[in-house]
Amino acid sequence: MKDNFNRNIDYLRISIIDRCNLRCIYCMPEEGITNLLPHHEILSYEEILKIVEIGVDLGITKIRITGGEPLLRKGIVSFIERLARIEGIRDIGMTTNGVLLKKFAKDLYNAGLKRVNVSLDSLDENKFRAITRVGLIDDVFEGIDEAKNAGLQPVKVNVVVMKGINDDEIEKFALWSKKVEYQIRFIEFMPVGQNAWKKELFISKDEIKERIENKIGKLIPVQMKKSGPAEYFMLEGAKGFLGFISPMTTHICIRCNRLRLTADGKLRPCLFSDKEVDIKKILRSGTSTEEIREIIIKTIHLKPQGMSEHTKPLRPMSTIGG
Ligand code: 5AD
Ligand code: SF4
Repeated sequence: MKDNFNRNIDYLRISIIDRCNLRCIYCMPEEGITNLLPHHEILSYEEILKIVEIGVDLGITKIRITGGEPLLRKGIVSFIERLARIEGIRDIGMTTNGVLLKKFAKDLYNAGLKRVNVSLDSLDENKFRAITRVGLIDDVFEGIDEAKNAGLQPVKVNVVVMKGINDDEIEKFALWSKKVEYQIRFIEFMPVGQNAWKKELFISKDEIKERIENKIGKLIPVQMKKSGPAEYFMLEGAKGFLGFISPMTTHICIRCNRLRLTADGKLRPCLFSDKEVDIKKILRSGTSTEEIREIIIKTIHLKPQGMSEHTKPLRPMSTIGG
């Protein structure tokens, strides 16, 4: 399915829950999310599966499950199993904070999950706690190990870089990529919802790369299959890769193939656009498959071309799903 700018939309990111067991400063306001959704406002697994089935008919082949923290939702393993059985789905990934991954990795893999992206913004126990406000770093390390052992590969590690907060660890993360097989991806900090974003905290991809090249060594470009918005490199002799996702300084929108579904049943054409379409209302009014199909098509046509139309999204990231 093509949008108005000839981009092929084949990737649906589904946020299945707005709750999280962490409180990352770049994602949530300090008090957490105060107006959490009541249970009946959250799409049921059946409703999500119905939307996916219709989406697949329109050309969706790739799914990512996000949150909040998706592993907090009850029945997640059997949901993945049902999702994986839908014909036409070629790839299912999940973005998680990793805290519960140790417990779930094997079952998720057996259910049909292919890959996980784990958020880890510091390699230091105390700093990790400061950034997540409540997290224990060892839970995440153990989760990542277990994911890899279970076959959820490649493991991608997402690092949101913030000046004066964790930018002193850029080199440490780069060195880590020499020893582990993970894809460590530095992400430019974006202003979303009521998060802690300010200009002084921002550090660009170019600056991050420069620091690595000055202190550690040359970044050798690597062509990855299906890299999405990330650019990949490796250090000489490294086991893993370093990736850069630069929504603030690169026109990544040109290649954007995504549609988002929020936990409260809104289809979002773009992370940065609050032009949402209420698919839950339609779904619950007993409408036909054909009408839901029309709604998906309409949302795809609402996709903005790119940066110039971007405004700061009002929703906190934890309710969009990253
Ligand atoms: N800027 C950049 N990345 C963010 N994420 C969440 N909030 C932000 C933000 N403000 C990313 C994190 C996490 C994923 C869910 O989204 O890397 O891994
Ligand atoms: Fe939770 Fe992820 Fe937001 Fe951190 S970034 S608070 S782990 S939803």
